[in-house]
Amino acid sequence: MSHVIVLDFGAQYNQLIARRVREAEVFCEVMPGDTSLEDIMEKTPDALILSGGPASVFQQGAPTMDPRLLSAGIPTLGICYGMQLMTRILGGDVRPAAEREYGRTLLRIIESSPLFKGIPEQSQVWMSHGDVVKATPPGFETLAFTPTTPIAAMGNAEQKLWAVQYHPEVHHTPNGFRMLQNFLYLIAGLRPDWRPDDLIETSVQQICNQVGERRALVALSGGVDSAVAAALAHRAIGSRLTAVLIDHGLMRENEVEEVRQAFSDMDLRIENAAPQFLHALLGITEPETKRKIIGREFIRAFERARENVGTVECLIQGTVYPDVIESGSKKAETIKSHHNVGGLPDDADFTIIEPLRWLFKDEVRRVGIALGLPESIVWRQPFPGPGLAVRIVGEVTPDAIKMVRHADAIIRQEIRVAGLERQIWQAFAVLLDVRSVGVMGDSRTYGHPIVIRAVESQDGMTADWVRLPPELLDKMASRIVGEVSGINRVVYDITSKPPGTIEWE
Ligand code: XMP
Repeated sequence: MSHVIVLDFGAQYNQLIARRVREAEVFCEVMPGDTSLEDIMEKTPDALILSGGPASVFQQGAPTMDPRLLSAGIPTLGICYGMQLMTRILGGDVRPAAEREYGRTLLRIIESSPLFKGIPEQSQVWMSHGDVVKATPPGFETLAFTPTTPIAAMGNAEQKLWAVQYHPEVHHTPNGFRMLQNFLYLIAGLRPDWRPDDLIETSVQQICNQVGERRALVALSGGVDSAVAAALAHRAIGSRLTAVLIDHGLMRENEVEEVRQAFSDMDLRIENAAPQFLHALLGITEPETKRKIIGREFIRAFERARENVGTVECLIQGTVYPDVIESGSKKAETIKSHHNVGGLPDDADFTIIEPLRWLFKDEVRRVGIALGLPESIVWRQPFPGPGLAVRIVGEVTPDAIKMVRHADAIIRQEIRVAGLERQIWQAFAVLLDVRSVGVMGDSRTYGHPIVIRAVESQDGMTADWVRLPPELLDKMASRIVGEVSGINRVVYDITSKPPGTIEWE
């Protein structure tokens, strides 16, 4: 099977490169940038990709690579920082740019090469860099430029070394995927021979290895991520798996019952932890504090569940890649602590196993389909681990939960009736802790607003607000104000991500 290694130099979106390679149906894994030639050779990769990264090659301690890899005859593609590093190691010239270049720009191809086969002479690309290549290393040709970057792509066909300054992995580079395919198929001569089903096999094997002879719990929330993780774990360890649903009292309407029915053939325990969660959240309004408390209560609840199950040492979670990246890594900044990643307390004494940690939601859905999970589960809209708590701006009280839950049920029901459920990433309600004046019948009201949030997204990392038909918004608004007591106003969130995030907290 074809095998590509992405060497990671710390770019926030470096897993996107791996994901694009998998989209091209080539097996791909990410390894630390400084992995030695010997360790890489053990894996017998067919090609290497050097990722971007936030550092400057001039910084002290900037990430580097084993230079011998560049003369090992492995087809290699450098991206952004990867290009600068390649240039510096091979004797070219890299200089700090007068100004950091960030955003869309126009790429002009000046030299024909297999890398750009089928790509128009001029096309849009996405740039984000502070250093530029001023002179290519000996034996390289300049292949393309942009208005501010004279050497935006370079190649040395004989040594099979290629590099681009822009980011082919992001959607803002429309021909980026084509270029990556050219690198994989035409330059490295790989065949598309990897399928999501293969991921099932490798994940099942990995879970078997990690769990060994022990027993495991799987954290089930009813969403697609945890359902797929549970199904994989069930395949791997069968009856040594117990599924646990922590009912934190912050689920959507009927959710607990639906999960109970959908997973009736598994050993499923429902741990009612609502009193503990709600008590711990009393008086808390700060979003990160809420998330940390919820993370802590989750672990406590699992510990209680474990006592009822017997000796269990492993906890399987459906953490997906965007959860990991948004919670911050060594080099990337924390946006939010996702409850199943950064929210974990240090004293959690489980071996945590996250089989989907490197996948994006749509890849998880593909695995779910390949596993034969019911469509109602596979196509469920994402729901955050901390549940409705992060959709209540301000204190999480029983009244607030009741209002946001009811409004959420109305929004999702109307979206379903309109046939839009699969087309949009998420549609839900957010409750705000401000009040405004309204009039109902002949009386003055002084109630809370509900925000309707509906977004389109590929993977949750970026998102656009959905242009829902006005009639549909009108129907939702009238129903919410008419049916949810305490709500007298409905507003529509028209913020994309970035600069907003999808959830409000
Ligand atoms: P944000 O709000 O960060 O959300 O733009 C991106 C996607 O992730 C979901 N989300 C979470 N999922 N645990 C999860 O499992 C969490 O703590 C969490 N917070 C946000 C969110 O619903 C959206 O789909």
